Amino acid sequence: MTRKTKLFVASLLACAIGTSPAQAQVAHPAQWPAVTSGLRPDPAVEQQITAMLARMSLEEKIGQMIQADLSTIRPEDLRRYPLGSILAGGSTPPLDAPDRSPIGPWVGTARAFRAVAMEARPGHVPIPLIFGIDAVHGNNNVVGATLFPHNIALGAAHDPDLVRRIGQATAQETAAADIDWAFGPTLAVPQNDRWGRTYEGYSERPEIVRAYAGAMVEGLQGAPGADNRIQTGHVAASVKHFLGDGGTSDGIDQGNTQVPESELIAIHNAGYPNAIRAGAMTVMASFNSWNGQKMHGNRSLLTDVLKQRMGFTGFVVGDWNGHAQVPGCAKDDCPASFNAGLDMAMAPDGWKGLFDNTVREVRAGQIPMARVDDAVRRILRVKFRLGLFDPARPLADDARVMGSPEHRAIAREAVRKSLVLLKNDGVLPLRAKARVLVAGPAADDIGLQSGGWTLSWQGEGNTNADFPHAQSIYAGLAEAVQAAGGTATLSPDGRFTQKPDVAVVVFGETPYAEGVGDVKTLEFQSGDKQALALLKRLRAAGIPTVSVFLSGRPLWVNPELNQSDAFVAAWLPGSEGGGVADVLVGTADGKPRTDFHGTLSFSWPKTAGQFTLNQGKPGYDPLFPLGYGLTYAKGGRVGRLDEAPGLDAGAANTTLFLSRAAAPAPFRLSLAPGIAASKVDSATIQEGALRLAWAPGQGGAARVTGAPLNWMREVNAQMVMQVTYRVDQAPQGPVALELGAQGKTASVPLNGVIAPADGQWHTLRVPLSCFAARGLQVDKIDQVFGLAAHGGFAIALAEARLSGDPSGQVCPKD
Ligand code: BGC
Ligand code: BGC
Repeated sequence: MTRKTKLFVASLLACAIGTSPAQAQVAHPAQWPAVTSGLRPDPAVEQQITAMLARMSLEEKIGQMIQADLSTIRPEDLRRYPLGSILAGGSTPPLDAPDRSPIGPWVGTARAFRAVAMEARPGHVPIPLIFGIDAVHGNNNVVGATLFPHNIALGAAHDPDLVRRIGQATAQETAAADIDWAFGPTLAVPQNDRWGRTYEGYSERPEIVRAYAGAMVEGLQGAPGADNRIQTGHVAASVKHFLGDGGTSDGIDQGNTQVPESELIAIHNAGYPNAIRAGAMTVMASFNSWNGQKMHGNRSLLTDVLKQRMGFTGFVVGDWNGHAQVPGCAKDDCPASFNAGLDMAMAPDGWKGLFDNTVREVRAGQIPMARVDDAVRRILRVKFRLGLFDPARPLADDARVMGSPEHRAIAREAVRKSLVLLKNDGVLPLRAKARVLVAGPAADDIGLQSGGWTLSWQGEGNTNADFPHAQSIYAGLAEAVQAAGGTATLSPDGRFTQKPDVAVVVFGETPYAEGVGDVKTLEFQSGDKQALALLKRLRAAGIPTVSVFLSGRPLWVNPELNQSDAFVAAWLPGSEGGGVADVLVGTADGKPRTDFHGTLSFSWPKTAGQFTLNQGKPGYDPLFPLGYGLTYAKGGRVGRLDEAPGLDAGAANTTLFLSRAAAPAPFRLSLAPGIAASKVDSATIQEGALRLAWAPGQGGAARVTGAPLNWMREVNAQMVMQVTYRVDQAPQGPVALELGAQGKTASVPLNGVIAPADGQWHTLRVPLSCFAARGLQVDKIDQVFGLAAHGGFAIALAEARLSGDPSGQVCPKD
């Protein structure tokens, strides 16, 4: 081919995948920053690794390249499958222990696995495992840990030194649980606030991410070149998700980042060079694609750019079955990903098959031995550097480290520094002598103020009892006010007997994480706008209102702002609710004690449709720009705001199928003849449930339908169909839950699964995979809910929705 025809073919190919040639998914390393890693290979250690590699069998090498989730592996499995790593996923408990466990069982788990890995066995080279966990805002899966504000809040604090200290404290609390590796920091630069992981990013601005990346890595790992071994209370960091996680179209998690290479470099890669300079030991490959190609299979980025051009000397770990999304791969088989540069696959449940297949593929020459040796060398380099070969682990099991007063003080400082004052008509600071009503659903709920990635993956199901050292926002306010002779009364629904001087209303988003947290509009809608109604009631009673808003992203809250005399964006502050009071409560006579410090690291929208409102973009028209934040010293007035959201929220709904006795837009409800429908009260809402009754001898289904939806991602994310119901008359015939695509339904029988007619409300959760296993075509779902029965049966349905909460899920047999 001549040069010209080559170019022509290249542009044809590029057109075929919908990009211009400049956007082709093969990167040009020379355009990327050249970096020198702070994790410099030490010649003596490299020699030891060479000697070790020479003694290892192929099986032992492949074992190093695979990581299993604790929920699917026992220590004794390591004798047959000598894996190099284990992880605990967001909802995975320690071995043989409850979901929410303190350090004891975690230490027991680490020791049990390490013992088998280090056994003297013929043909086995003892190599310690590296044990990883999502310590992303503190060691957040462990009961008793200090929970720092999520990254979005830290972005508002503009304080790299604070971030470094948070990293140090997190590392110590991780080492205390005998865990070696934190899957953080997230260096995403979220560009679309609909993304449910927005709060895991520090900022929409690359500069802010760049300023924090090295600081957090150093905090977790210790300064590069120092004796950063786990014994001194440090752990390996995993900068993630490489690359472009924050740039997916429509803010869809795991989606496609369609940007030119220049933008990938300038925005999404902003944090990586500094993280590598700081000696980042691991980088996690991202689920997303770049211009149509999955990152787990992108050799030019994982190898040519990251390892060669940017000098990364640690190892690349995959994300949760991320390799399985590479074309031609499955969770237990993916030579393409290893060949692209993945060093360790996160194979939570597919590790056995992946081990066997990968060994076979290396023997067959599908993966070069040199690639295997390179991967294992990188993994061993990290294990040596971390000091894992040294059995002494002085911090392990030291309960004094967990939630220590020093760590909590850092977290409280972070809360103070990250609050952003959006509006203040003079009601703040609170007079410490005042009579304060503390209202709102999140006033006294440490789970809500901590968000996702807190004791469970989605952060659901937590109660205050799960947080031994923590303080709710109410408890913090009460402490501060009472110390000065004022009173604070907790009243989530805002009712009071004696009229307060002021009401602080704490409300916001309910916790979410990956996938589940993606939204279609930026209109704040949680809790059916009950907080707005509460604010209105209080104002009508002549009570000044202070809103404390908890959220993982900026949201359109104009109506709530209008009903608030002061409005504070508190993000997801974590375990130290007292930090809110430090700034909100003034002296006895109402003078400020501590001023506001935080300013927005994300632009705040003027309409619910400003998804990609980012500073520096054309047409930038925010309600509050990046960098905005009032203080007591400067003040500033916010006038009455337009209450039209500028976007139809209903039309954007894709997760709620039955609510308030109807199918919310854009869905439609249809009933087979012979089903009698009526409205009845739900547990919380008058006429909030739909009662369906099948007369004896009648059959047919109630169906909720709409335009076809692609639920592939929802199935992968292990989401469930969640139904809140009460059985009024036990079924006399078969009952089934149905989903449908293109005229074909998949039905899951419910007999034996649904609750008896006990007059109580119950929640049923059936994983989407259960429908998929029954033949549902998951990429074209047009029947999003269905309930079929034959013979007498009566049920009241309060809600049907997609959910990320797997607790108690069932997939019954036919
Ligand atoms: C997430 C990662 C996380 C990993 C382990 C993945 O689904 O994308 O951020 O570290 O799971 O829990
Ligand atoms: C795990 C998470 C993981 C997710 C990926 C969950 O079950 O607990 O850690 O990130 O699956 O889909």
